[in-house]
Amino acid sequence: MQHIVFLTGAGMSAESGISTFRDSGGLWENYDVMKVASIEGWYENPDLMLTFYNERRAQLDKVEPNEGHQIIAALEKDFKVSVITQNVDNLHERAGSTEVVHLHGELTKACNESKTKVYDIGLKPIRPGDKAEDGSRLRPFIVWFGEAVPMIEKAAALVSKADIVVIIGTSMQVYPAAGLIHYARRGVPVYLIDPAEEVNAPSGVIIIRDKASAGMARLKEEFLKSEAGRGSASSLK
Ligand code: APR
Repeated sequence: MQHIVFLTGAGMSAESGISTFRDSGGLWENYDVMKVASIEGWYENPDLMLTFYNERRAQLDKVEPNEGHQIIAALEKDFKVSVITQNVDNLHERAGSTEVVHLHGELTKACNESKTKVYDIGLKPIRPGDKAEDGSRLRPFIVWFGEAVPMIEKAAALVSKADIVVIIGTSMQVYPAAGLIHYARRGVPVYLIDPAEEVNAPSGVIIIRDKASAGMARLKEEFLKSEAGRGSASSLK
């Protein structure tokens, strides 16, 4: 069974109504990223950060996975599928994907200050003054700028085993996530789905200039056809 590894970013959830970061009108146009998404911001103004993430967590109650999330989940019938996402929403899981690696954390989780204890909080807000079991401040389980990305080794190992890599909806500007593409073995096809005129992709990447859902609808047909071809080929042996 072929192994497809997906690398998804904010554009994956755009059709579900969740704002991206760097598109016009994106989150970083309305917020100072260093004040709401960095470890310095947490020490300077934790209440502002709690509010920012409470608002984003509450939005999860109002959005649904889009067709792109659903197609990726459905491919598990015919392929081994791993999803590595920079997104902190839970839309891949809600669409049915069973292996989802969150590089930048998860909105539905909280943790203690040292990030050694993680709690499922669903859509509940974290209030100023909320404490973890060890008495430290309860905080969003998010990887902020300036913090380590503990899942990167697992993600790199998955990409290095992929038979196909599909990148969807990321501006490829934030490392180490953007460097994962270089772990693909030579000869492994790498696709990038993004509607932008200009995309940040190394040579050799197959660009599909489309939104996540339409792009995945096209790729699904191609993958299933080639898988069927492989199947008939193997039956000829
Ligand atoms: N379908 C597919 N791609 C889309 C769509 C769509 N409907 N709409 C926008 N895009 C593309 C944009 O063209 C852009 O290339 O999605 C990408 C979004 O880029 P960013 O907003 O930079 O989001 P992302 O790459 O996920 O950001 C990476 O930066 O701020 C940090 O931690 C945050 O995880 C985030 C990281």
